[in-house]
Amino acid sequence: MRRLVVPDTGTAEAWRALARSCLKEGLAPSEIIWDGEHSERSLFDGEPPKRSSPVNNTVPRSFVALAETVCWHRDADRFARLYHFLWRLKDAPHLMGDRADPDLAQLRGMEKAVRRCQHKMKAFVRFRELGDPQGERRRFAAWFEPTHHTLEPTASFFANRFGDMDWRIVTPEKTALFEGGKLSFGPGAPKPEFPEDASEALWLTYFRNIFNPARLKVKAMTSEMPRKYWKNLPEAVTIPDLIDTAHARARAMAEAQPTLPPLRAEKARNQLAAHRSAWEGPGDELAEAIRACTACPLHRTATQAVAGVGPADAALMIVGEQPGDQEDLAGLPFVGPAGQLFATVAKSVGLDRDKAFVTNAVKHFKFTPRGKRRLHQRPDSREIAHCQGWLHAEMQRVKPKLVLALGGTAAQSLTGDGSRMLERRGTVELLDDGTPVLLTVHPSFLLRIRDQDEKRAEMAKFEADLRIAVEMLGVLEQGKAASTHGENR
Ligand code: URA
Repeated sequence: MRRLVVPDTGTAEAWRALARSCLKEGLAPSEIIWDGEHSERSLFDGEPPKRSSPVNNTVPRSFVALAETVCWHRDADRFARLYHFLWRLKDAPHLMGDRADPDLAQLRGMEKAVRRCQHKMKAFVRFRELGDPQGERRRFAAWFEPTHHTLEPTASFFANRFGDMDWRIVTPEKTALFEGGKLSFGPGAPKPEFPEDASEALWLTYFRNIFNPARLKVKAMTSEMPRKYWKNLPEAVTIPDLIDTAHARARAMAEAQPTLPPLRAEKARNQLAAHRSAWEGPGDELAEAIRACTACPLHRTATQAVAGVGPADAALMIVGEQPGDQEDLAGLPFVGPAGQLFATVAKSVGLDRDKAFVTNAVKHFKFTPRGKRRLHQRPDSREIAHCQGWLHAEMQRVKPKLVLALGGTAAQSLTGDGSRMLERRGTVELLDDGTPVLLTVHPSFLLRIRDQDEKRAEMAKFEADLRIAVEMLGVLEQGKAASTHGENR
């Protein structure tokens, strides 16, 4: 039985050298005790020690990389596990690609844990300045408690990043010292008392300011920043308060709407504007002009173009994506399942659909034939751009007080940005002429949800969005009544 001691500095390299010579000698895993790892014996109980003939085979590079990381794991059996797998590899080099192999799976899990620990270390080491900030080389120190032995393999990251300073990172087991551009390692120590650091107040202010209460997801946050690290993070003292007040702050942000669309949306809108074919003919001929449109190939397969319908002075304009199968045949928007669902929800919240002008961002039905069925296809940005002139002309004609955009295609055509609808839904964005656009999802999104609980939840959100439309219309109409009243006096 051979007892091998792997040092705790230079560990990965030392293990590699030892493992290579054991392999060369033909020492089976059961003939080696890796330093202090008595538990490993249980792995091989009953296996008679055997000396095989010396082997001289090459080791896959992917194993070398794996071993280099796993060596820093806290598991006392890590060296034995690695050598056991290395021993198996010499007869079956394909094992490195065998995802079902339990030994490999275990090593991969350990590798992942070490990498995660390294990532946390890079993210959560907080330096305190020691000594004179005006000194020739500034000096810093940090205390960290890694889950695995990751100080050494991660230290080069800090050396690259803070190469022009002197620093040390103290952990319970080891200290990394970087002085005059040279990295070395010494014994660990208990948590030192650090002096106050003036830049810490600045960091706390910065952290408070970048914290977005509307994006708060406590579960995701605590998984990314586990609580065990909090005690060494200066900003952690602010987290409970930021969480407690997030709801109120997010509400205040929402109430401060409407907001202007982001700059990139503006850019996209300007590009789309180039496609505008503003209709300058009489308003009552607009629908006819739309039906005659052949600007894009969609007109070849669709039955007809479907223009908007509703009062020409409607306060509300509802914009969908494109006609569906039934709308294409009927020549009217929102008469199929999505339209019916919309009508039901609208009625339940007191939104009178008949008083609205109902239309679509794209006027022709886009589909792929599948047997006797015509399967809906989402219009692409060129098709949206071609039809944007028609939507614009409809808006010019109706001059709605409020536009309700149903889904990403409508949002793209109107605001230049069709993304992140689940985040933007229920919010209002302003068009160039000041017309407010209330964004929500498309009713066909609700029709596609299979899970009943999820469907109920989404329906409730959709209802809430339509309620906002009702409330906004009330306010906008009041404004109109008030100004009319004023004019009459
Ligand atoms: N979906 C839409 O977006 N518009 C319609 O007219 C029908 C279904």
